Amino acid sequence: MGAVSSPPHPDPLRPNGAEREKLGRDSLDGWVAYGTVDDIPKGGGRAIRTIVGEIGLFRTEDDRVFALDNICPHKGVRLSLGAVEGDCIVCPAHGLRFSLADGRATEFGAGMTLPVPVRVIEGRVLVRLSPPPW
Ligand code: FES
Repeated sequence: MGAVSSPPHPDPLRPNGAEREKLGRDSLDGWVAYGTVDDIPKGGGRAIRTIVGEIGLFRTEDDRVFALDNICPHKGVRLSLGAVEGDCIVCPAHGLRFSLADGRATEFGAGMTLPVPVRVIEGRVLVRLSPPPW
């Protein structure tokens, strides 16, 4: 009788099997599929791990989807753990707010996080992966 092994624990930051299958089709021009809109909680975020780093996907209450570099420029907390309020993500650590549209903090001098191009096609979320400009 052989040893019983359990399946590997799924990594919530990586695309699942179905998403990986689609990567070949969807990676043209740098656009890569990362699940569906329903994978992102309304009024919240989801972290995805990509070849250019961790990105936060955010969904507003009216189902618009945005993508930002997931690391808060203040102290490095994951923005995807915060709450979406209107068109901003509120960092869960100290409450700084960042525009979902352009990543700029609403408080003067608090910096910004990098916006990432994202689009939704038939409910699927595609992110354009390109190296950061620095
Ligand atoms: S770590 Fe985000 S506001 Fe401080």
